[in-house]
Order: sequence, then C-alpha cells, then structure tokens
Amino acid sequence: MFETNNQTVSNLRQILAEMKTLPHDNPRAMPAEFYTSTDFLKFETEEVLRKEWMCVGHVGEVSIPGDFYTTEMLDEQILVTRDMDGVVRVLSNVCRHRGNRVAEGSGNSRKFTCQYHTWTYDNTGALLAAPLMNKQPGFEKEKCGLPEFASEIWKGWIFVNLDGTAAALAPRLAGLQAVIKNYHQEDRFLNFIEEDTWSCNWKCLFENFMEGYHLSATHRKTLHKITPTRLCKKMGSDDGWTGYHAYYDPNYPPRGPFHPDLTEDEKIKSPMYGVYPNLVVGMATNFTLFMCLRPDGVDKVTIRWGVTGLENDPEAQAVKDYVDLCKSFNAEDREKLEILQIALKTRNYPGGPLAPDDYEGSIWDFIQYMARHLAS
Ligand code: FES
Ligand SMILES: [Fe+2]
Repeated sequence: MFETNNQTVSNLRQILAEMKTLPHDNPRAMPAEFYTSTDFLKFETEEVLRKEWMCVGHVGEVSIPGDFYTTEMLDEQILVTRDMDGVVRVLSNVCRHRGNRVAEGSGNSRKFTCQYHTWTYDNTGALLAAPLMNKQPGFEKEKCGLPEFASEIWKGWIFVNLDGTAAALAPRLAGLQAVIKNYHQEDRFLNFIEEDTWSCNWKCLFENFMEGYHLSATHRKTLHKITPTRLCKKMGSDDGWTGYHAYYDPNYPPRGPFHPDLTEDEKIKSPMYGVYPNLVVGMATNFTLFMCLRPDGVDKVTIRWGVTGLENDPEAQAVKDYVDLCKSFNAEDREKLEILQIALKTRNYPGGPLAPDDYEGSIWDFIQYMARHLAS
C-alpha cells in the first residue's frame, strides 16, 4: 500500500472504516476533507485510480482503421488507436527517445512522428524509423515501441488499467448487464463527444450524477418535468457499480423510438449507473449520456462526455435537441458543484445525513466502495 503518514489521510481512512460499520438506515456523507485534501487525492490515485479500470472514451471515436485520438489520465499521456487490423489499442503517447509527446489531437493516420527528433511509430506502437540511430551500435529498434496499456471495451466504452494488474472488467459488471441488457447499449452509435473542465472534485461529480435527490431542485427548469425526484428508485449494486432508475413523469411524452426488447416498465425509465470509479451513465430509452471523469487536482475534473443514440446520424435534429438538453442540465449541475467545492474548503463540515436509498443510496454505495479500497 502507498505509504503516507499524513494526518488528514489517516483521519479520512479512519472515517471510511467507521462508514463500513454504520447501519444502512443511517447513512452519512463524507467530511469536507474527502473532497479537498491533496494528500488524500494522492492516496486514492495510487490505491484506487491507477489500479482500477478507468474509462478514457468510446469506440465511436476510433471507428475505422487508422483512427486515433489523444487524451490524458492521471499524468499519463494516452494515444488510442484502431490499428490496420481493426484492433483498438491504448498506447503510451510518450516517445521512447527522450520522452516527448508523440501524437496530438485526433484524426486518421498510419504513422505518428514525434516532432522533437522525428522518431516515427505505426499505430500498433512499433517504431518504424529513428534518424541516424543505425550509427549507434547498441540501439535496438524493436525494443523502442510505444508501450501498450491494459485495455478493455465494455458496451463501447474504452477502459484502461494503468498499473496493469486489474482483474477483467466485464465479469465484475455482470449484475449491471442483467439490469440494462434490453436497452442494448452495445448497439448505440456515438453521436457527440466533447471535453469540459469543471472546478470541482471528481468524487463530487460522480456522486452528483448518481443521485436523484437533486433532480427536482437543481433541475427545476429542465429534468424535473421529465424525471422528477419523487419517482426515483434505487437499482441494485455490486463491487464494481451502482445505480438508480429515473422514472419518467407520466405527463411527459413517450421517449421513443424504443428498442423492441424493452418491457413496458423499461420504456418509462432511464437506468442511471456508475461504473467505479470514473464512468457515469444516464441511459434514456432513446439516447445515452455518458461522462468519463479525469481528476486534475482536488478541485478540477476534466470530463470527456458524449451522447450515443440508436441511429448513426450525428446531424439529426433529435440528436441536437438531446445534446442541447444535456448542455442545459450540465450547466445547472456545474454551477452547483463549483459552489459546493468552494463551500467544502471549510474546516467545519463533518458530513451530513444522506437521503433515503431511492434518492441517495448510490452515494452510500460509492462511499462503501471507497471504504473497501481505502479504509484503515
Ligand atoms: S523525444 Fe521523440 S524523437 Fe526525440
Ligand atoms: Fe444533475
């Protein structure tokens, strides 16, 4: 385990240990320091984030051979490619010469050339060319490819495990798969993708997305008329995930088109689920909103967020309308979360009581997940 003798970290680990023993009918939120301590962020980075499967995007971003995009995760430079055999790879985007970044942005290319001294790699990571290095007797070209991280694709989302030791992801999500299978997320097409940075702790965003308690209050003008708080119902949870169902107000028009496998009950609710620790998903009957969270300091989180839909038609009016709706309620969440982050600087908030299971039970699950990994 990552060594730390920091007092705040010790206190928080102790509180997480106490959280494990609290009765389920008296759940509590974590204290302010859980969301503001840089030492705790270092600890959770080593003990959770680098050890777990972290979502870095969607296969729709690399849909044909040669497609690539670059991103970051916890100080690692990441290059996601689809190689010429169609295999999706998550490579280290750090040149094996003197360590500069190799590829920039996104696009379609068979080769990537580091601009510093023009070493060139193919999209499997193999080194193709290194100027003048044939005059260096000890140089072994085949040993200088870009390393590949452990990766896995689940329902179209691309996950990376930075330390390469995590057990397979899909078996851990089998219970979730049973709940959501009729929505057929694996058949939905990427319609939209964008990145934003919010000034809040990544855990505040995870918790916010995973609770229905704020829907009617924070989203009075947007989501309240679609998925009001009073209709939320907790779904199950397991080691790797949690969630709730956001039922639709009966007065809101049906949200078709519907996949033929959906039951009558499934046609009137969105499964909202979180795959620990960094993917949150709101899966409506017609569109899916997802967010991959990327902690960037205690009070900043970069969000790679996208929308998938039943049709491969990003220009459709229905897609534009849905993306606009997402932007509206995201702005409402962002405003609340950025104020929350300021308020949490207090030294005087020990964590308050949580609302009943249907409304904030997923937060309790998330705290239990963190406790399983980090409690003393
Ligand atoms: S650092 Fe990439 S070519 Fe030198
Ligand atoms: Fe929200």
